[in-house]
Amino acid sequence: MSHHFDVLVIGGGVAGLSVAWRAARRHMRVAVVDPAPGSGASHAAAGMLAPVSEATYTEEPLLRLGLASLARWPAFAADLREDSDLDIDYRADGTLDVAFGADDLTALDELAAFLDKLGLPAERLTGRECRRLEPMLAPSVRGGLLAGEDAWVDPRRVVRALLAALARRGGALVRSRVAGLETDAGTVGGVRLATGETIGASRVVLAAGAWSGTLEGLPPEAVVPVRPVKGQIMRLRSPSPILRRCVRGVVHGSSVYLVPRGDGEVVVGATQEEMGFDTRVTAGGLWELLRDARELVPGVTELEMADVVAGLRPGTPDNLPLVGPTTLPGLSLATGHYRGGVLLAPLTADLFLDEFLDEADGELSAICSPLRFQEHR
Ligand code: GLY
Repeated sequence: MSHHFDVLVIGGGVAGLSVAWRAARRHMRVAVVDPAPGSGASHAAAGMLAPVSEATYTEEPLLRLGLASLARWPAFAADLREDSDLDIDYRADGTLDVAFGADDLTALDELAAFLDKLGLPAERLTGRECRRLEPMLAPSVRGGLLAGEDAWVDPRRVVRALLAALARRGGALVRSRVAGLETDAGTVGGVRLATGETIGASRVVLAAGAWSGTLEGLPPEAVVPVRPVKGQIMRLRSPSPILRRCVRGVVHGSSVYLVPRGDGEVVVGATQEEMGFDTRVTAGGLWELLRDARELVPGVTELEMADVVAGLRPGTPDNLPLVGPTTLPGLSLATGHYRGGVLLAPLTADLFLDEFLDEADGELSAICSPLRFQEHR
């Protein structure tokens, strides 16, 4: 083998690059292998750091992970700025979840009660109070819930910053496709590239998002249970900001959100489609997004259409991520982040490092452990 690294990460999206950069900051020899870093789900993601407004009753463990990662974001963002000199448009102005009908209002009341029980801050507002916060909201909005701690970033900027920070910390980026794992006596010792070259590593971290299940060379008991969940998303452009914070709501039974950027961009997302590895942007998908976004903020139809894209979220059977060692010695996962990859990036990096450096915190790493699927096989 021509090179040997402490940590080799397969996949240069937000999750993989975060693991690699944090490891490089701890003076490990690190490489990331990806033919086109940041071109998968990270390119489509809106970047909401919104554990509270995405919480549901059945997903308390996910909420716990999200809160733990949200708490890490300010320091993560500050370190990233220090190591990259790039701005990631980190904003912490909260999410306003709005309701139109009686059912939606009841759902908000229930969510508010659930959050209250957990001691989480969220403020129930009338329609008028919502419009006072966000004057562009539709007059038909009847109530809302303000999750004031929610934040957001621009994931495309995060990728650029992570690449710069990784390089500055001495990490290697190999722009190539991984053809398979290199194993020796049942232990993973590196990867084989599509070029035929091999790279050795003490630990390989699979962070290939929705493609993590397609890696060749995994024995059946170590198969990664991720599936692609397609999301179409659009970026609109406004000469001046039309929203101060993230706004979301349920329209026609599906959830729609608007994320404003500092430069006047407004991201509208996202569809949820089980279509395999299909990344076509469809007329129906965009129509649905615009129809629903217009119900929330009628003025969106005036904005310039800047970009439309479809990405694939790595969904798991229980909607929880897969982070940690597998049954295959030498192989860890950092994937399966489904709708929360950007939010969960700092926690993912910490969980990996804690385990790799033998400083593991049991509770959160147990929630994310890939062994919950692999041991039962
Ligand atoms: N986190 C929002 C989405 O996946 O659409």
